[in-house]
Amino acid sequence: MSVIATPEGTRDRLFSECQDFCAAQNKLTELFRGRGYEEIRTPEVEYYDLFLQSGNPIPQEYMLKIVDRSGKLMVMRPDCTTPIARVAATKLKTVPLPQRLYYNETVFRSGAAHRGGSSEIPQCGIELLGAGGLEADVEAVTLAVEALKTVCPQGFHIELGHAGLFRVLADQMGMSEPQVEEMRALIEGKHFAALDDFLRPHREKPAYALLSRLSRLFGGTEVLDEAEALIGSQPELQYLRELSAALAAAGDGEFVRFDLGLVHQIDYYTGLVFRGYAQEVGAPVLSGGRYDNLLGAFGRPAPAVGFAVDVDLVTSGSTIQDGTGRLRLALTKGRLQDQTVELLERAGLDCEPVRHPGRRLVHPLPDYPLDAVLAKAPDVITYVEHGVCDLGVVGKDTILEQSGSPFYEVLDLGFGKCRFALAVKEGTDFYGTYRTRRVATKYPNVAKRFFAEKGMDVEIIKIEGSVELAPILGLADAIVDIVETGATLRENGLVPIEDVADVSARLIVNTAAMKLKKQEILDLIAKCQSGLERETPC
Ligand code: PRP
Repeated sequence: MSVIATPEGTRDRLFSECQDFCAAQNKLTELFRGRGYEEIRTPEVEYYDLFLQSGNPIPQEYMLKIVDRSGKLMVMRPDCTTPIARVAATKLKTVPLPQRLYYNETVFRSGAAHRGGSSEIPQCGIELLGAGGLEADVEAVTLAVEALKTVCPQGFHIELGHAGLFRVLADQMGMSEPQVEEMRALIEGKHFAALDDFLRPHREKPAYALLSRLSRLFGGTEVLDEAEALIGSQPELQYLRELSAALAAAGDGEFVRFDLGLVHQIDYYTGLVFRGYAQEVGAPVLSGGRYDNLLGAFGRPAPAVGFAVDVDLVTSGSTIQDGTGRLRLALTKGRLQDQTVELLERAGLDCEPVRHPGRRLVHPLPDYPLDAVLAKAPDVITYVEHGVCDLGVVGKDTILEQSGSPFYEVLDLGFGKCRFALAVKEGTDFYGTYRTRRVATKYPNVAKRFFAEKGMDVEIIKIEGSVELAPILGLADAIVDIVETGATLRENGLVPIEDVADVSARLIVNTAAMKLKKQEILDLIAKCQSGLERETPC
């Protein structure tokens, strides 16, 4: 009998859920219409080539694909802006600019489905096409503020950044493209310590001072002051000041903050970028920016700015516990738990309840506003990603296996050190055959990426534990696994033949909590850093 269920990442909406959803859509629609925006609807499927042409860097593995009758590849619309730009550059090309358009449409992305996320993301947004400069950006951001006022009564703020700033600074570093991309990813992920390490050899370059601080520069106008103190006057910073002054003059000053580390999609956005954060919601509820090159990609060069509200997130209710003044830190049960407790104790926190946890899973600390939550490694990521825990301590092995999860990886805690290695039975020649090799692992994604980078075709077999058994029993030619002391390999007649990646424990932070509970989280990060500095040298 066939399975009667909805596909992964999709769901039915029933009754009150539909009402809440439609109420939010209606409020936003009314607002946009009242501001002179007209509705546009585009097909749910588009040709894949459209998104290639647009330069919008949505990874192709995130797009849901279909092949049409003529064999052409189509995708379920992964974003609304590109199809709207297509319409503006074709059917609407004789309509004078600026054009003000709004949409209520679903975008489809397969990436989030496996982690409780949805593949269907209902968005309500606007595009202001053919309008550049400050006035148009003020219009877009003030409308974003109005939009969140209507659907986030619990409170919200909008963070502004500038895509041009990173580009200007990166150009001054004289780095290769892959190096620039590595630096961008470290800034975007707020990998504070890893960014310090990456930039250390470039200390002499003039842009170093600001780039090394960029991921930490989020908050009020003081971040613009600090940036200018480090680099001097810079047109992009000046622009953000002018924009914030104009927004204040429009009465929206209290909702505006900055994040100079907003460096996502830098080849797509050309100026202002912004994100909206609502109290108690564990992910940005609004995202937007200026994309002056998109219409040109379809033959009608014109500036443009827009944003989208995630209607599911603004109607889904609270995930982050706000207003309690307490943080939740998810600890990976077992060895990492003990080492995290030692670190926190070195930092001066009383962790007695976590030292003797019994079967209890949530442990409020007595003298610090922190609840320690005990979870399995992959679940630490899930809880942090969804915002029900603000922070987590988890091994880099789990992070690499679940790559693509949105969170900030702020500190390498230095303990839990081991490595991923490729290992084989002693005396075997793994590479010396044309036969397709079988590799057993608990980490299929890590293994797949490792061999894909080598251009090698291998068969990956997922094993749940004691993976060393697979080659011993003849199921696999090799394993990709964690090696700490090397004892398990030795005692089972296996030898490591190649390192795959280094592993250690990382402190991760939910992206929205970082903004909504900035001071508390930065204080805890500083405590962890002080604990690391007090570590007894071995
Ligand atoms: C891990 C890993 C190796 C072993 C490596 O297994 O998968 O089997 O530790 O440690 P060593 O180099 O110090 O010998 P774990 O103990 O987590 O058990 P599992 O294999 O059953 O998951």
